[in-house]
Amino acid sequence: MKAIAVFPGKPDSVHLADLPKPSVDDVPGGRGVLVRILRVGVDGTDKEINAAEYGAAPDGYDFLVLGHEGFGQVEAVGPGVTEVQVGDYVVATVRRPGGSIYDLIGTNDMTTDDSYFERGINLRHGFLTEYYVDDAEFIVKVPRGLREVGVLLEPLTVVEKGIGQAYEIQRRLRVWRPRRAAVMGAGTIGLLATLALRLRGLAVTTFGLNRKPYLNSDLIEAIGARYQSTAEQPILDAGKTYGPFDLIFEATGYSPVVFESMQALGKNGVLVLSSVTGGDRKVEVPADRINLEFVLGNKVMVGTVNANREYFEMGVRDIAQAEAEYAGWLGRLLTHPVKGLENYRELFDKLTTAKGAIKVFCEVAELSRGA
Ligand code: BGC
Ligand code: ZN
Repeated sequence: MKAIAVFPGKPDSVHLADLPKPSVDDVPGGRGVLVRILRVGVDGTDKEINAAEYGAAPDGYDFLVLGHEGFGQVEAVGPGVTEVQVGDYVVATVRRPGGSIYDLIGTNDMTTDDSYFERGINLRHGFLTEYYVDDAEFIVKVPRGLREVGVLLEPLTVVEKGIGQAYEIQRRLRVWRPRRAAVMGAGTIGLLATLALRLRGLAVTTFGLNRKPYLNSDLIEAIGARYQSTAEQPILDAGKTYGPFDLIFEATGYSPVVFESMQALGKNGVLVLSSVTGGDRKVEVPADRINLEFVLGNKVMVGTVNANREYFEMGVRDIAQAEAEYAGWLGRLLTHPVKGLENYRELFDKLTTAKGAIKVFCEVAELSRGA
């Protein structure tokens, strides 16, 4: 079967690879689930892996199959699988367990191991192929009525984990009634964070570089959030008008924003950092003031990466609520479909150059067969 792969370490090596079709028996204990891939989203991580900034092939291979945002339909299950059935729509989690105590309790996203396993990213093949097999443990069912937007589940889980962690941390305050939130960045993750916070009833200001109106600012306003262009008003100024913020979700990919966010955070507030910044940028910051306000304001800042099964399940519930409350909104994020694995060049061209793209994804197979 076809797969889109790279040779890790070799820039721009994206190519079509050939792999044998997996089988449910590849997973021990009768717990295998064979999934036929329907759609796979791509993001900055795929771009960076193809640029050879990171990524590693599984043992015994010189290539890595890309794709960690997979959406598919169950084709077969082993005798020990009760959670899903043939025909169910599913998404697989990305990280696989290592050896730390966090991995042992199913929170692989919290591993303290230095080397981690992520499908489509590090040491495990991804989903940009025709079929995959995995343990039922890592397969999450998506209700049939949500299948049109199911490919957005994996990116949403990154947001679910960040917000879930923020709420968990805030249990330190005997009472926490967050009212104002800010989202830094209006890309795919920023949009999904805006949605998740609106669904939790917060007043949200989302910051982006571009001046409105454009699709992303329209989407933000369509769910009752405020879009603020930093070209018109810097974060610190706008923070004085619309803040102080009880919760800030940082997703710009630009680390200096972290320090501005620290200053826009309200007393007792929580700042969630989700940008993966590979460079070594340096900035000068008002360190005394930031520190003083953090101390006197009992503020907290937390980093977040990946997501475990719990956050995938939360994501499914948020997608359902979003479809009920803001029908059709999530579908508007699916801006750039590319048909067929063989068109991997077009997929990567769109990912790197398409203007106005929110979600670029590969339509590996028709969504509706056997519907
Ligand atoms: C993925 C996460 C992953 C992270 C770091 C993100 O693009 O969505 O699942 O943990 O990259 O590899
Ligand atoms: Zn990703």
